Order: sequence, then C-alpha cells, then structure tokens
Amino acid sequence: MSKKNKQIAAIKGTKDILPQEARKWQRVEAAAKGIFELYGYREIRTPVFEATVLFEKGTGQTTDIVTKEMYTFIDKGGRSLTLRPEYTPSIVRSIIEHNLHLRPQPLRFYFIGPMFRFDKPQKGRYRQFHQMDIEVFGEKDPAVDAEIVEMADFLLQRLKVKDRQILVNSVGCRKCRLGYQKDLRASAEKVRERLCEDCQRKIETNPLRIFDCKVDTCREISLGFPVITDYLCPECREHFDKFCSYLDGYGIEYWIEPRLVRGLDYYTKTTFEIVSSKLGAQDAVLGGGRYDDMMKDFGGPDMSAIGFAVGMERLLSLVPYEEEREIFVYFVWLGDEAKRAGMKLARLLRREGIECLIEYRDRSLRNQMSRADKLGAPRVLIIGEEEVKKGTFQIKRMDTGEQKEYRQEEILDILKESAQK
Ligand code: HAM
Repeated sequence: MSKKNKQIAAIKGTKDILPQEARKWQRVEAAAKGIFELYGYREIRTPVFEATVLFEKGTGQTTDIVTKEMYTFIDKGGRSLTLRPEYTPSIVRSIIEHNLHLRPQPLRFYFIGPMFRFDKPQKGRYRQFHQMDIEVFGEKDPAVDAEIVEMADFLLQRLKVKDRQILVNSVGCRKCRLGYQKDLRASAEKVRERLCEDCQRKIETNPLRIFDCKVDTCREISLGFPVITDYLCPECREHFDKFCSYLDGYGIEYWIEPRLVRGLDYYTKTTFEIVSSKLGAQDAVLGGGRYDDMMKDFGGPDMSAIGFAVGMERLLSLVPYEEEREIFVYFVWLGDEAKRAGMKLARLLRREGIECLIEYRDRSLRNQMSRADKLGAPRVLIIGEEEVKKGTFQIKRMDTGEQKEYRQEEILDILKESAQK
C-alpha cells in the first residue's frame, strides 16, 4: 500500500476474507450448520455490542478478556458498551429477556459471527475473529457433556481435520473450589517473587487464572501447583467420571488435562478443548465447558448450561483445500441485437438457477473468448447476428473445444445437464 493509502489500511488484527477464501468459509459454515441441526440445534442471532456490564458479570471480572481485552466505548447516549468478546453471556441474556426458558428443555442454540478481543495479534490470534458457538440449556446429565464433545469431534472429522486431540477436565463447583483456591493461593504465595506482576495480582483476585498466563516461567512454576481434580466434591467427581465413561462408550479418545481451567470465570464441572499441533502456539481450535451458575447469577432461572465455541480462523487453517468447480456460463455476443438477446436469455436462466456472466463491452470475439478463458468459464454461450435471426445459440465446452448450436428451448436442459457432469 502507498504511504497515502496507509491511513485507510485494515486495522491491525483484522483481515479481509477475499472471495476465494470466502467460498471455503461458506463450505465450512454449511457443514457445521448441517451437523448442528442434526443434533437439534437452532440458530439464534444476537447484537454485536452489548452493555459492558454483561461481560464484566458474565465472562468474569478476573479474566484476561475483561481486564485487558475488551473493545469498550461510551456511545453518544453516555452508555458504556462493548463489542462482544464471546457469545455465551449474550445468549444467557437473550434467554432471560425473551423467556425462552419457558420452552421445552433442553434448549439447543447455535450462532456464527465475529468476536472482538484486544489481544496481541499473531498467528491464530486476531482482534476481530469469528466463532461458531453452540449452547445447551436445562440439561444436567453428563451425557450431554459427552454428546457435545462427540458432535465437535464429528464436525472436525467431517471437515477432514486430521491432527486433533481432545483434552478434558473438571473445574468443580463453587463448593469444591473453596478448599482448592485456598491451597492454590498458599502454593502461589510461596513462589510469589518468581511470578510475573500479573500473576502476583491474580494470587489475590483469582489464583485459578494463573494457569492462563502465557509467560514461560509462570507456566513452568504452575506445573508444581495443586490441581483441581484432587479437590472435587462427590457430586462433581461422579459427574466427571460419568462424562468420561460416556466418551468411552462413544469410543472417543481423549486426554485428562488437570490444568485445563480455561480462561473464563464461569465454568463449573466439565471443561474441554480440542487442540491441534498444526496450529502452533495458539493450539486450541475449540473450547468449552459447563457453566451451571451463570443464568441464576444474572437473576434468571436456576438452569444448567454447557457449550463450546470453535475459532473459525483456526479451523479454516486446518481444513484441507478442496478445489471448487466453477459452473457459470459466460455469454459472448457480436452486435447490439445479439447483446440484447443474450441479456434476455441470461435473465431467464438465472431464474432457473444457472449462474450467468455477460460481457457488456463491445469487444472482438477473440477478446471475449480469452476473457471467458481467464475467468475459468466451463461453458461459453455465443450469439452472433445469424443466431439472432434463427433464434439459436452456440454453446462451447471450454475443456474439449466442442461447439454446437441449440434452439432457445433446448438451452436450459443442456446447461442443467452439463452442470451435473
Ligand atoms: P474461548 O476459549 O475464549 O471460549 O474461545 C473459543 C475459541 O475461539 C478458541 O478455542 C479459539 O479457537 C478461538 N479464539 C479465541 N480468541 C481468539 C482470537 N483472539 N483470535 C482467533 N481465535 C480466537 C469462549 O469464547 C467461550 N464462550 C466458549 C464457550 C461456549 N464456553 C461455553 N460455551
């Protein structure tokens, strides 16, 4: 970009999704939607910005997202608003606001859209990124925890993501966390001086968040800290054991990772991630867990919940490239009458679901054919003065060079037939 244009360049941490790439996004989104619907999920869409307090309370005051990463601004009405950094609190708000909890439970929803986090941009980490998110409300049974992990695994398998590993854990409930936090705090206190400034602060605010730290020394030190799985109350222990046994029942391979506390404050019991070594440092393609307290903490009904979100950019980087066959018809004409006949036919064919591109500039036939070739048109429809008189069109197959004349009535069938080949 020239110096002058730099002023209007895309903002750091954001990127354009250009048409060829967008096709891949559409393919992945369509596959995901199909799978989500197979498991009973329905789409819900919420606004891109919400009251800041929604995320402060929902995502959690001690998370990196709320303390460092939110795009928060004051609007012209003096309200503090935030571009959503994640979907989960928005959907809980929407359920309460629209009394969706009165519908037969469990409720299953999915969403696809952009998220915003003021994170340090790097491979796999952006400031505007996209998530596909699913949430289930009103089902306490750990069978649903296993079902969503199975669904996530199915999705990745369907998209031919080969290198993937499922990590699972339980972060317990508020009861089991009391004793755990006390011991964790004591362990962290002993090595306070060696921890980064941020983690030193976390000892007071929420020592669990030390596990989210990306500083190498903090990561190494935290390996020696007690793990939550040793502190689970009988109910949480039973939930976790059953969850694992259901995964075993599906024949799904998984790894128990006792330090998988995930970077959000709301989790209770099950947490999980699917990681891929192909992603580099940001290795989680998706992550989620149970959050049984959020709804009632917001003043809504006492309703359990679980969900996960897939990072689209990371997922797309793992999905193998598949060449998409172009099936459009390119119209080439000679003379104004032929142009008009072409425009009319294109109008009819588009109504029948055939993609048509028509040349508008008066170019030579050779020139138009070479444009069709450059655009990768598999079929070219040629109209000259002769054809206009006879009410016919020539169709040329660009792969074989074969060219034949057809009457207007035959065109639709011929093109439909060739689109299937
Ligand atoms: P999360 O782990 O914060 O969870 O994000 C989920 C996924 O979004 C990550 O695994 C990653 O693939 C992607 N992701 C996160 N941040 C970025 C970024 N800056 N750039 C690119 N990709 C990113 C949640 O958001 C929870 N709401 C998931 C959930 C739903 N838990 C329960 N229900």
